[in-house]
Amino acid sequence: MDRAVVVVAAGSGTRLGIGTAKAFVPVAGSLMLERALAPLFTLPSPALVVVVAPATHLDECRALVASVAGAAVAYTAVVPGGADRHASVEAGLAVLPDSVTAVLVHDAARCLTPAAQFGRVFDAVLAGAGAGFVPALPVTDTIKRVDGDVVVETVDRAALVGVQTPQGFPLAALRQAYAASSRSETDDAGVFQAAGGTVRFVAGDADAFKITTPWDLGRAESIVRARSA
Ligand code: C5P
Repeated sequence: MDRAVVVVAAGSGTRLGIGTAKAFVPVAGSLMLERALAPLFTLPSPALVVVVAPATHLDECRALVASVAGAAVAYTAVVPGGADRHASVEAGLAVLPDSVTAVLVHDAARCLTPAAQFGRVFDAVLAGAGAGFVPALPVTDTIKRVDGDVVVETVDRAALVGVQTPQGFPLAALRQAYAASSRSETDDAGVFQAAGGTVRFVAGDADAFKITTPWDLGRAESIVRARSA
């Protein structure tokens, strides 16, 4: 198989304040991880799926992946995560076979990301001549540069985008970039770029927002209810 998705789901969810691993929090009746995985098994071209889970939740995660994957369960793996997102991504990349050419890295916390967004990023990577690709949306707020509580200047938002996941790359190049990383980057595209890679963007989707706070969880639940109304 030439496509793979690494879903990082090993975060603690401290900012959500629910006291359990974030990916195992229910979102309108289904676990966040279950919602994040569902679109991956509807893609027109199948992909290997690796879930990076908290070490405390491996058995629960394997059962959940099996129930979502159905007949595709043979193409899944569950591995324990690391102390930070960087380590968790590396753990996921490490178990992929070298036959994979395009790998997507996805946050389980962006659990309402539509299947079409995975398709767009895969297509771009496979046609992308070695570049990495991120889904992005225009910035709508006015953005200010600040120093303490002093506003220094307005930043031209026409030159800014907000980026989401899944972020896609040629596997070998992403592995090399992670091996060389200083760990200061905050996303996979940052790691890839720091190693000299070119990153381009494709259209993102408002539903691919990351659940971080209780407000985000409420927003996700409203969207799920609206989708099924
Ligand atoms: O904490 P934050 O929401 O920014 O994390 C983004 C994603 O990275 C989440 O899906 C989370 O589960 C994952 N993560 C991880 N391992 C960590 C920290 C975060 O897999 N140690």
